[in-house]
Order: sequence, then C-alpha cells, then structure tokens
Amino acid sequence: MLSDRFGRSVDYLRISVTDRCDLRCTYCLPKGFKGFEEPANWLTFDEIERVVAVFARLGTRRYRLTGGEPLLRRHLPQLAARLAALPGVDDLSLTTNGTQLASQAGALHAAGVRRLNVSLDSLRDDCVHGITGSHCLQQVLDGLQAARDAGFGSIKINMVPLAGVNEADIEPMVAYCIDHGLILRLIEAMPMGSTGQQTRGVALQPVLARLQQRFGLRPTCKTLGGGPARYWESADGQFTLGLITPLSQHFCASCNRVRLSVDGTLYLCLGQEERFELRPLLRAGCSDAELEAAIRAAIELKPQQHTFNEAPTHVVRFMSMTGG
Ligand code: GTP
Ligand code: 5AD
Ligand code: SF4
Repeated sequence: MLSDRFGRSVDYLRISVTDRCDLRCTYCLPKGFKGFEEPANWLTFDEIERVVAVFARLGTRRYRLTGGEPLLRRHLPQLAARLAALPGVDDLSLTTNGTQLASQAGALHAAGVRRLNVSLDSLRDDCVHGITGSHCLQQVLDGLQAARDAGFGSIKINMVPLAGVNEADIEPMVAYCIDHGLILRLIEAMPMGSTGQQTRGVALQPVLARLQQRFGLRPTCKTLGGGPARYWESADGQFTLGLITPLSQHFCASCNRVRLSVDGTLYLCLGQEERFELRPLLRAGCSDAELEAAIRAAIELKPQQHTFNEAPTHVVRFMSMTGG
C-alpha cells in the first residue's frame, strides 16, 4: 500500500485525460481561455495504462477519470475498458459535465465505468448559461437519462452554490434528485486560479440546517464513493445529500488521493503546488521499477493540507487542469 509522510494511504488516483472543456464555468475557467496543453504532451492511452498498472500494483484501488471534460478525449471508452481490465483496479468512475453523456453513456458502462458524477448547478437554462456560458441544460438532462438507461445507478449531481447566482436553485434541485433517484452533492467553491469572475460560494451549514429540517435528514456512514463528501439521508431513504466542504470543514487529514494531469504530472494536493513530472521518465523509456520508485518519491511530496483559507490564494492553476 502507498502511504505518505503523514500516514495517509493513497488509494485513489484521479486521472485527467484532457484539460480542455466545452464549457467555461465561472468558478473553473476564464472566458476566452486558450492556454491548453499541446497534444504532443498528452499522455497516450498506453502511457496512462502503464502508470495505472504501477499504481494498482502498489495497492491503489480507486480510479476516477476527470478533465477538463473527459468525454472530449477521443475514444475514452477504449481507455476505460483497458483500465477496468487491469488487476487491482476495483473502482473506475468518471466525473463529467454531462454535455456528451447522451451519446457516450452506453459505451462507458459497457467499458466498465460504474460510477458517474455529473456537474449541474441549476435547472434553469438561463442560470446554467450564466454559469457555464452555454445553453446546455437540456443536453445534460438528456445525458442523465441516457446514463440511467445504460444501467448506471447512484449517479451523483455535483452542484456548486454561488452567492446571488444559484442559491435559490438548491431546493428545486433537491426535488429533481428525489424524483429521478439522484444523489445531490453541494460543493463549496474553491479559489483555484483566478477566473476573473465573481464566484463567491455559499455557506453550506445554514443550507444543511434548512434541508435537514425539511427532509428529516440524518447523517449516514454509507460508503457512497471514495471522495471527501459527508452524507445525510432522509428518513424514508429516498434522498441522499452530500456536502463537500474544503473551506468550512476541510478533510485533508483523511485525504486519500493524488492526481495525474493530461501532461503526465502527478499533483499531490488540489490546493498546493507540489508536483512530480512522470512524462519525461515515461518518454525516456524508464523501467517499471523506476516508475514505481518515482511514484513513491512523488507521494513523499504530498503536503499535509491545502491553504485555500489563506488569502490571497497561491494556487495559480485552473481547476480544469487537474479536474477537481
Ligand atoms: P466519489 O466520492 O468517489 O464519488 O468522488 P469525488 O467526490 O471524490 O469526485 P468528484 O470529481 O465528483 O469531486 C467532487 C468535488 O470534490 C469537486 O469539487 C472536487 O474538486 C472536490 N474534491 C475531490 N477531491 C478533493 C480533494 O482532495 N480536496 C479538495 N479540496 N476537494 C476535492
Ligand atoms: N470549486 C469547487 N468545485 C469546483 N468544480 C470545478 N471548479 C470548482 C471550484 N473552483 C467542480 C465541478 C465538478 C467537479 C469536478 O469540480 O463542479 O463537478
Ligand atoms: Fe468544464 Fe467542469 Fe470546469 Fe465547468 S467545472 S468549465 S464543466 S471542467
């Protein structure tokens, strides 16, 4: 098992397969952003598979495909099938903005992806447009339907409440999730990069108190993934709410993950700059033993916790680069 200097096991690798995205969410990417990675620097499927095989040999069991928007990477289901077939890869999941899900859900499920998290911040098209820059609401809803039809269960909606933008959309989203059997997660907006836009998150404790009262929510320890969310459930079990609170109640002490970016850099923390470049090694023809040693050395660099709460933020990369 891989463990870091603070005794935390690293059993979750998030793999960003592209830093590109068809949307420009205000909390993630600046409008008109063009600084994407050169295709020549993208890890190939062979290289990603090799890195994952070594992680899996070292004991990492959970893998999540992210972006940017992962479904923009051509032939992604082929990569998913290759990863799902590797010994030790027990949990293969995907986080997507849902715009391409309608056409790809079936292939992803057939490839062995079993868990899906879909970003959706409102059920009002004008609000979705205001946040993402695109009139994509119907596409995402169609994608969710296709995912259910393809056999995905326990789909999670990731919603980032923003002050004065979509706060009033939380209750309608709860109702939608109850009607459609979806898990709703509310996420505190993190100050990554500077998108130059107003993106103040909403305090989630009062929201929780409100929803607890209305739906009789009780904390649940059910395992609903490998991530940092804490969950509550309604008495009738019909509704599950997750809160992801990196700012108001961070979860760094139990952090279990690292991130591989599309250019082959291992990022050791979402909110810090520590990193280790694997691509030069991979392209220099390193052995598996060398790759394993490099991954172990990288894990040694994992910092104790993020410093999002220390203004001004010194994380200059955008969220789209490491996929959240
Ligand atoms: P599961 O629990 O396995 O379903 O996935 P997840 O919640 O880890 O993944 P997802 O991609 O849906 O991420 C949801 C939110 O949690 C995103 O806003 C991420 O940025 C945030 N998040 C995930 N991991 C971390 C982390 O290590 N640190 C911080 N600060 N935020 C994280
Ligand atoms: N703060 C919190 N969550 C974010 N996401 C993207 N940018 C941010 C941010 N600045 C979320 C998206 C997506 C997930 C991968 O990360 O909503 O669901
Ligand atoms: Fe794209 Fe996701 Fe970033 Fe929105 S949050 S711009 S959907 S990568």
